[in-house]
Amino acid sequence: MIAPSSSPPPPLALLAEVTHRCPMRCVYCSNPLELVAASGELEEADWLRVLSEAAELGILQVHFSGGEPLARQDLPRLIAHAAREGLYTNLITSGIGLDAALGCRLADAGLEHVQLSVQDTEATGVDRIGGFQGALAHKRRAADAIAAAGLAMTLNAVIHRGNAERIDAFVSLALALGARRLEVAHVQYYGWGLINRAWLMPTIDQLRAVSARVEAARAQHKGALVIDYVIPDYYARLPKSCMGGWGRRFMVVDPAGRALPCHAATTIPDLHFTNVRDASIAETWEHAPAFNAFRGTAWMAEPCRSCDRRELDWGGCRCQALALTGDAAATDPACHKSPHHRAMVELATREASAPPAAAAGDVTYRGSRRRRPRPPAAATSRKAEETCSGF
Ligand code: SF4
Ligand code: FES
Repeated sequence: MIAPSSSPPPPLALLAEVTHRCPMRCVYCSNPLELVAASGELEEADWLRVLSEAAELGILQVHFSGGEPLARQDLPRLIAHAAREGLYTNLITSGIGLDAALGCRLADAGLEHVQLSVQDTEATGVDRIGGFQGALAHKRRAADAIAAAGLAMTLNAVIHRGNAERIDAFVSLALALGARRLEVAHVQYYGWGLINRAWLMPTIDQLRAVSARVEAARAQHKGALVIDYVIPDYYARLPKSCMGGWGRRFMVVDPAGRALPCHAATTIPDLHFTNVRDASIAETWEHAPAFNAFRGTAWMAEPCRSCDRRELDWGGCRCQALALTGDAAATDPACHKSPHHRAMVELATREASAPPAAAAGDVTYRGSRRRRPRPPAAATSRKAEETCSGF
């Protein structure tokens, strides 16, 4: 854990996780397994101060996320304050509860962009992934409200084994709903997604088919729809630059006020996180041990230390390294140079080929008490957990 010698440049963006409350219970939610209760959330005054401090530090964007940020009644006031401070404002939402009146209030407050998540293009698929009946109809209403309010919209499509065949349908839905951008992102295996991995993991053939459909759709709809694409790490040869590098581009503030280098950082047991109630955003960004723990390249061991990609991907993802190797300072196993890479690919292949019925019996909804206390290791076989009946 080595501190850098000079002050780091300010982060690009603040991810304001204003609440963990959410009407949906997605089986791949990246929120931590220990969700913050409403009684533990930061007060409005704290968030207003955090937004001012963020702007003062030089942060340019704020992404309001959760949970479902609309669960907070003060969200329009937080957005208005952020806009007054000169921050670009983005709302990441399930769309549940976003009607025309609220859409107008958010636009009037200064909101500039909305990311609307869609779990599937078929109503039954959305209900099953999100544990919420009738969710797709709510999302269609939300999209109408966003369009009526004149807000720019990105549709976030999360891809897994159960919907990987519907890329064309996601593209059609995005166009029909008036989205300018579609993000096709395979599930990232953190939080609830990690414990439900065996149920969600696509096969390698599905991944190839999705990649081909994305390429075809990009060519077909060039100029009308921008399509971003994120593949699953487990089948990658090189890791992603998670969060653009630890302590380089982003700061997350969770509902309880903990300032985090990434949304999953609380899974790393040796890190201590400052709270925005006790320390300013600038102080935390520059001096907090958690932000300096994996900042830059000085903390790296081989093979990253001497690799010519070390300032491109910054060693990949620390939380994934911990989850799959037990060591947060290890090379991300998504990298082909990691000694754990082969085990990761084998794990994905094994889990993706499990019989659907057996895998479905292993699913755990977000917020369920019936869950695994610790994430599974790549090298070990995955034991069946207690399950949600009716899945
Ligand atoms: Fe990235 Fe490390 Fe792999 Fe090099 S060895 S590609 S720096 S993860
Ligand atoms: Fe924490 Fe990637 S999610 S570093």
